[in-house]
Amino acid sequence: MPGDRGLMRPMVTKISDILSAARGAVAGVTTHADLDAVRAKFLGPNGVLRELMKSIADLPKGDRPAAGQAVNACKSEMEEIFREKFDFIESRDVSTLLGGRIDPTLSEACAAEIFCHPLTGVKNRVLEIFSKLGFCAVDGPEIETEWFCFDALNTPQSHPSRDDRDTFYFDGTLSVGNVSKRNSERLMLRTHTSTVQVRTMLRQKPPIRILSQGRVFRKDAIDATHSPNFHQCEGLVVDENVTVCDLKSTLDFFFAELTGGECEIRMRPSFFPFVSPGFEVDFRSGNLGKLSNRWIEAAGCGMVAPSVFGNCGYDAAAVSGFAFGVGIERLAMLLFGVDDIRLFFQNDTRFLRQFPMAMF
Ligand code: DAH
Repeated sequence: MPGDRGLMRPMVTKISDILSAARGAVAGVTTHADLDAVRAKFLGPNGVLRELMKSIADLPKGDRPAAGQAVNACKSEMEEIFREKFDFIESRDVSTLLGGRIDPTLSEACAAEIFCHPLTGVKNRVLEIFSKLGFCAVDGPEIETEWFCFDALNTPQSHPSRDDRDTFYFDGTLSVGNVSKRNSERLMLRTHTSTVQVRTMLRQKPPIRILSQGRVFRKDAIDATHSPNFHQCEGLVVDENVTVCDLKSTLDFFFAELTGGECEIRMRPSFFPFVSPGFEVDFRSGNLGKLSNRWIEAAGCGMVAPSVFGNCGYDAAAVSGFAFGVGIERLAMLLFGVDDIRLFFQNDTRFLRQFPMAMF
């Protein structure tokens, strides 16, 4: 280098010192934010390199071009040091480690808002309300046998819901031990979550206060209000001296909480084979948009039938209880003013993104 002699020598030493300082400073950095701070110190507008460039003006005219070249080479080398470190940090970033499933380019506003599938939101909300009353969540299988789905629940062989035009049966059969009178049972997809009443009573002694939510299946043609697969929520309370008043006040509480306060319910006598008496439940709320203040059918319920207690090994003279069943899609449609059940299953994010977590 021509200017290696004379005044250029200190410049060359300075450059090599600056590069080692940059390498040293970058070595301990582990985050992009810290790397940016170090970069500003060396390459920023008031950084070390800028000072070095300014000092070229102090050199004799003849040395300046060589000094300029040396400073530019220093700049390139320094940029390379930072680029290498940037790539290293990037390669260890969680979002990269997860195979790019996290999109770090999303705006903060997007990332801050978490969306929840409306059915999940409603299920969580329902469970939250009933857990305030001491209900605990239990699960049951989606593949069931006829005994759990129908016989134990007092549903006669001739009941239309048992028809194989209404229910999905499998070819296989299963032995269910000593609970069924048959040696083996036809397998099927459960048509309601009331099966979990039976499974719970067979498993535990009273007092019982459970809520079970899950998928149920029926051979329904798909249209705006029917789907062969939907979700239900089933409640069961068994104890000594449980009355219809307990049932009514439980449902009063549930619908009031669900609709945010203002709500009335009414119970109309109805028939379900596993309860006696049985009721349909309607509710009326001022908080339901265009459905406000109209009676809306929303649940089935009743006092557990003595024969169901008997089938589950309980003494019907010693205990009493109530049960209720609610459709999750139906609740979601009423609460959000959705008029087509298919929207819940199409996974169209334009629909789903309208339900932020905070809503539930
Ligand atoms: N299992 C009934 C259905 O799917 C709903 C139901 C009605 C559940 C009355 C209950 C009840 O527990 O008591 O249509």
